[in-house]
Amino acid sequence: MAEQQQQSPAEVDGSGSVPGGHPVWSSRWTFVLAATGSAVGLGNIWKFPYIAGENGGGAFVLVYLLCILLVGIPVMVAEVMLGRRGRQSPINTMRRLTTEAGLERHWHAIGWLGVIAGLMILSYYAVIAGWALNYIGKMASGAFQGASADQVAIIFADLLSDPKALILWQTVFMILTLLVVIGGVTRGLGVAVRILMPVLFVLLLILLVFGIQRGDFAQAVNFLFSFNYEALTWAGVLEAMGHAFFTLSLGMGAIMAYGAYMPEHARIGRTVLAVGFLDTVVALVAGLAIFPIVFANPSIAPGAGPGLLFVSLPIAFGNMTGGLLFGSLFFVLVTLAAWSSAISLIEPAVAYLIESKKFTRITANLLLGGIAWIVGLGSVLSFNIWAEKQVAGFNFFEFMDFLTSSVMLPLTGLFIALFAGWLMRPETVRSELADESGRVFASWYWILRYVSPIAVGIIFVMGLYKTFS
Ligand code: PHE
Repeated sequence: MAEQQQQSPAEVDGSGSVPGGHPVWSSRWTFVLAATGSAVGLGNIWKFPYIAGENGGGAFVLVYLLCILLVGIPVMVAEVMLGRRGRQSPINTMRRLTTEAGLERHWHAIGWLGVIAGLMILSYYAVIAGWALNYIGKMASGAFQGASADQVAIIFADLLSDPKALILWQTVFMILTLLVVIGGVTRGLGVAVRILMPVLFVLLLILLVFGIQRGDFAQAVNFLFSFNYEALTWAGVLEAMGHAFFTLSLGMGAIMAYGAYMPEHARIGRTVLAVGFLDTVVALVAGLAIFPIVFANPSIAPGAGPGLLFVSLPIAFGNMTGGLLFGSLFFVLVTLAAWSSAISLIEPAVAYLIESKKFTRITANLLLGGIAWIVGLGSVLSFNIWAEKQVAGFNFFEFMDFLTSSVMLPLTGLFIALFAGWLMRPETVRSELADESGRVFASWYWILRYVSPIAVGIIFVMGLYKTFS
């Protein structure tokens, strides 16, 4: 396999633009790496366990898995396909394909909605990733050694109540992200995904073993996989579907942007399956590592919320041999996983400003990163001074999270399914997926046209209605 002779998109330095003669990744593996780097992040390790916990486990997990299979994977294939056909930043890709299909310009909105959602997600993503950064030092300094569940909870609460510290770490993380996007994504990303992700996975497995030996593993399995459907509400179903989009990085252009550099004859279907599989396994293992500890410590509730990871795992690390080292390493890796996702949250917008508005890579990053940072301050404050300021039952962080994952991503995903399934000419779609067998193509096309849009539509309407009624 020729190693990457051509530069990848984001690597295109200074100008960053990829006009007409778009570069192409040397193999589909580079796409798998980049897309996995984007997909595997805080969503898997931090968010999935706590939202599963808040929604009562079992039935929520089942809905989530169904959404990955029936909505996420088909939409991901569509996004990669659209990206490869358009070969530009998501906004311009959608422009080009809209014209090609002879449609109204309203369809450009797909690109715009995605780019805006990406920046909104980045705003709070940097805050949470900042917690992980902060925890590297806490772990390494032995703050959790031998600590009881209550002591760990107090250390975490102290961090949340200190806006200055949160802003400091949010800023550090944002700078790290911008540095990579300014410098070129692929190198750093390649290393992160190829070497660090497997290490992260091994560490999760070590925690899993710890959980099996010292935690209440049976109850954790029971909680995550028994179909306890009374605990599930329409609001929870909406959250599960939104999370399927979030965790696969769908509905905001990241995957479309990466798809723009797929080689012409790479098979999109199996590539996407590989990414979806890896992402799901990481989330499930994270859940199975966290919940045994939760159930072994009555002072932490499964529905503890965003702090679940930051309380449950330090208890484990603080009470196992090698915990100091493994714990520090674990939060280094969580930070890196967040980093490789954060890059893809800002890259589509950066690419657009460079392509169409004559920005340099640096100014585009400073502007967009600056906006996301300022908006992120709202999330910082929602964990302390603004904790009581709520709109419709959401504080600022929860509102941003809800608006992006439960509204914007599914909506954009729905439009993508409709666009690729119903509006593009079938011959065009088939020609982009020419390497798939007839049967695989037909099944995908059918699911994308009928199942995904109807599922998203029903869940979206019912979920919103029940959330606000
Ligand atoms: N998929 C990432 C995660 O699970 C988050 C993300 C969402 C990244 C959307 C890019 C686009 O953490």
